[in-house]
Amino acid sequence: MNAQAPKGTADMLPDVARAWEHLQRVAQELFARYGYEPVYTPLFEHTEVFTRGIGEATDIVSKEMYTFEDKGGRSITLRPEGTASVVRAALEHNLTANGAQAKLYYAGPMFRYERPQKGRMRQFWQIGIEVLGAAEPTADAEVITVLWRFFEALGIPAAIMRLLLNSMGDESCRPAYRDSIAAFIRQHARDLCEECVRRAETNPLRAFDCKNPGCREVMAGASLLRDELCDECAAHYAAVKTHLDALGIPYVEDSTLVRGLDYYTRTVFEIQVDAGLGSQNAIGGGGRYDRLMEAYDGPPTPGLGFALGFERTLLAMQAAGIEVPAPPRAEVFVARVDDSVTAEVFALAQRMRDAGVAAELDHQARSLKSQFKQADRLGARFVVVVGPDELASGEVTLRDMSTREEKRVALDAAPAAVAAALG
Ligand code: HAM
Repeated sequence: MNAQAPKGTADMLPDVARAWEHLQRVAQELFARYGYEPVYTPLFEHTEVFTRGIGEATDIVSKEMYTFEDKGGRSITLRPEGTASVVRAALEHNLTANGAQAKLYYAGPMFRYERPQKGRMRQFWQIGIEVLGAAEPTADAEVITVLWRFFEALGIPAAIMRLLLNSMGDESCRPAYRDSIAAFIRQHARDLCEECVRRAETNPLRAFDCKNPGCREVMAGASLLRDELCDECAAHYAAVKTHLDALGIPYVEDSTLVRGLDYYTRTVFEIQVDAGLGSQNAIGGGGRYDRLMEAYDGPPTPGLGFALGFERTLLAMQAAGIEVPAPPRAEVFVARVDDSVTAEVFALAQRMRDAGVAAELDHQARSLKSQFKQADRLGARFVVVVGPDELASGEVTLRDMSTREEKRVALDAAPAAVAAALG
């Protein structure tokens, strides 16, 4: 039997799992201040949710989905991201009926069959928010601000983050621009990679995202969508920037930011951190998707949101020297002198726990000396020693591990005494 986790997946051992829980706590506390509510959607969906939502020509749909037929003959896909599922759920449960607005957040694993490398996994973890039913540019500025503030709340210095901002236009200005970029690619086909030339036919704007330096140089000569936006999109984009300026959120306009999902309209953004991340430097990103619900035959419903990647955020935190503090595994260790007091030790540890104290005891028949060592390893402030002689007089010994002071306390009073000493 091969005891290794599948390629591109990782076990979250306690240090990492604790960091994941820390991120979720910071997120919950922050998102609540902006009125977001939790939502949990299934880890798998009918494949169509993603093919229609994210777009057939995207890398995610064309190359990276975990798709299989279930025993009932349905095509099922493990979710590669959360937005499509949340919009599907909002439509199914009428969350935005009659012009209602829904503000939702989620956290959980996503699945993409990508080539694993630092910061790129096949199962990775995202935290995201989605606002449905909000068309105003204040919503764009709010969502971007929440993402920025989240990383700030984790302690990532603003100086190492770069917030990129762009507008993808909408159905009235983007098609003509797409055609002009497709024509540009065909014109420069000789100097572009095969993939970019193919993109002219499928998804021309993705050529801006090519990592190949030669392609980057050629694409730098293409016209920018920013200069070709229709009046409505230009006004929306300008208003988003004004609101961000008013809050002092430092963005950098990047007209080549196109992102890897087809549902975007108008605002797109990404936060990148170079330190510790290599080429997978986007720790979070998102944008507006005003036509997505219509892709599921729902009514026109504006929407927008972001998702941030846990693994990359953790790498950025590590590079910035931010540690998630580990609480002591035990505040008190209840040690036994010999086997004759096992029942009392077990009962006393439980009373400590019931009194709100993190208590541990020996389950491995260790000697008293190694119980003290174990108490040290667990970070216990106190050790309560239970022995037959003390017990005979209804007492135990309470030892403060930092001062090495010892005193006798009544067995019954021990939990309250420890709780009080811990403050
Ligand atoms: P995305 O840019 O594909 O957007 O993913 C968001 C974040 O997830 C990335 O910035 C990155 O940190 C992380 N991520 C993506 N793929 C991987 C991977 N293979 N390994 C590790 N981390 C990864 C979305 O998923 C959109 N649903 C965001 C959104 C929400 N747009 C609107 N609402």
